[in-house]
Amino acid sequence: MELTEVLQGSRVIPVVVTDDIDSAVPLAECLYEAGIGTIEITLRTDAALDVIRQIAAEVPQMVVGAGSLREAEHVAAVKSVGASYGVAPGYTDALLDAAEESDLPMIPGAASPSEMMHLYERGYALQKFFPAEVAGGIPFLKAVGAPLPELSFVPTGGIDARLAEEYLALPNVLAVGGSWLTPKKLLVAGDFEAIGKLAADAARLGM
Ligand code: 3PG
Repeated sequence: MELTEVLQGSRVIPVVVTDDIDSAVPLAECLYEAGIGTIEITLRTDAALDVIRQIAAEVPQMVVGAGSLREAEHVAAVKSVGASYGVAPGYTDALLDAAEESDLPMIPGAASPSEMMHLYERGYALQKFFPAEVAGGIPFLKAVGAPLPELSFVPTGGIDARLAEEYLALPNVLAVGGSWLTPKKLLVAGDFEAIGKLAADAARLGM
């Protein structure tokens, strides 16, 4: 799968931290119905692999990715449960080697021109810009656009609906990621109606 295909029309990637396996399917369904084509489940809870497995099996129309990949071993683990792509806050050569050996499309993270150039040298023209807001935000992406015109980014970290719109207006931003449309409070409460509203607003951004 090409990384541009994972978005399925929307330009927002919800970054989800959840330890609730039971809510995996209703969450994915509600986001998909709101017009969000992909979901990134972060490997930050013991339940993450089961959540990915559930969504991949039960909500096949939703493209499910795995986030917070940090170790080479994570690649096989997320592939085995059905993740279609991986996202990482940064990169190591071991992680990229593992992803390439397993044919797992990756959005590795970078926050400096040298990291961005290194990733591009390894074949990654699409990169996560993380942590976007504290690493320089929109002015940073504008500044690197001229000397690094080959690259496009998925800024993530500290982004809300208002900032997302501003990021998505930049020519070198393909999509934005963030947890603002699946906040912990609403996830814990199982308030899929409220999440659906946030997601529907997010799905319209940058169109
Ligand atoms: C990530 O994993 O990409 C970020 O932690 C998500 O950032 P946010 O919670 O600030 O949106």
